[in-house]
Amino acid sequence: MNRKKIALIGGDGIGTEVVREAKLFLEQCRERAGLPLELWELDLGADRYLRDGTTFPAEIKQEISDSCSAVLLGALGDPRVPGLEHARDILFGMRFGFDLYANVRPVKCLADRLVPLKGRSAKDVDFTVFRENTEGVYVGFGGQFKKGTPDEIGINEDVNTRKGVERIIRAAFEFAKKNGKTKVCMADKSNAMRFAHELWLRCFGEVAKEYPGIETRHVYVDALCLYVVQDPSQFEVVVTNNLFGDIVTDLGAALQGGLGMAPSANVHAADPGRVALFEPVHGSAPPLAGKDLANPFAALLTAGMMLDYVGFSGWEARVERAVAEAIEAGKCTRDVGGELGTKAAGSWVRERLAAG
Ligand code: NAD
Ligand code: IPM
Ligand code: MN
Repeated sequence: MNRKKIALIGGDGIGTEVVREAKLFLEQCRERAGLPLELWELDLGADRYLRDGTTFPAEIKQEISDSCSAVLLGALGDPRVPGLEHARDILFGMRFGFDLYANVRPVKCLADRLVPLKGRSAKDVDFTVFRENTEGVYVGFGGQFKKGTPDEIGINEDVNTRKGVERIIRAAFEFAKKNGKTKVCMADKSNAMRFAHELWLRCFGEVAKEYPGIETRHVYVDALCLYVVQDPSQFEVVVTNNLFGDIVTDLGAALQGGLGMAPSANVHAADPGRVALFEPVHGSAPPLAGKDLANPFAALLTAGMMLDYVGFSGWEARVERAVAEAIEAGKCTRDVGGELGTKAAGSWVRERLAAG
């Protein structure tokens, strides 16, 4: 098997702590399981930015694109950089810069006791969100006018292109087809956003015709939030835009046991050979940072997803099993009902994996 180079960016706050656990796991995979991994740690994030003004240098971006199979990122966001300029350069530099249009966020719960819904169990929480990742309000089109006056205006345009909408919808259907799923649901707000989301609705109908075996459903995103809480088992694959996908997957994380349990991938779904970005759904959680309190499981699950993606199949499922066992045994952090710190929880899972 060819050597795979992985860039590691801890970033800010708990991002550095959880990526440290994932790095130890990847090193263990290399040393004990013989995976040919080359790990390249990058010093990027708020500390670096505050030290020398560096956000995301063009040479680093180029080298990632030329030589890496994947990037594992912790989180970005630091109260000392209120404008988040470094975070935007790094995170959007990769999502937009590498054209990673599919943000794949599995909403899968690994243990019954983590499900917060009355009468539901883990098997009821298992769907995957395909979040459009290169358009929408995230493109940063807009501006402010008469700032600081009573007449001020703030505008962020919502960009939806036929190409962008079609490819994420197609990615969701392809994923369903490859993974034996029979239901794809598209969520938009076409009742209020007549122009942009009429495009989504029409495009969804057209792409759906190419997948006759798949049952399709359209819901408005506000209703999606209701249905997901009432009965998450009715969903298998959900496709939506950038902003709605962001929001719905934090809601989804609540059904998984919290943000400490939610992994994600950012990929160019039509070109799996291209470098992809893997990150837990959570942010830098400043109040937890530096205290050994953060749950490392989302980052470990993300690392498992990444290994499968770059060609080492079976690791995603192995990590899932080990994390499920940790939760079962109470060998986990406080947010999921345990008493361990970040490091001890990470090492329990690694030992479990090492034991086979
Ligand atoms: P957050 O995800 O950092 O935290 C939200 C809540 O979840 C908090 O209560 C936090 O304590 C908890 N939480 C998150 N991760 C956890 C973990 N691993 N273990 C235990 N508890 C965990 O979101 P926020 O507070 O809205 O944002 C904080 C900063 O992170 C902001 O600067 C935001 O912009 C940034 N952010 C970055 C990313 C990213 O880099 N991909 C994602 C989300 C937020
Ligand atoms: C996420 C985050 C980011 C997003 C922020 C940090 C810009 O919330 O990855 O979920 O909105 O995409
Ligand atoms: Mn988010």
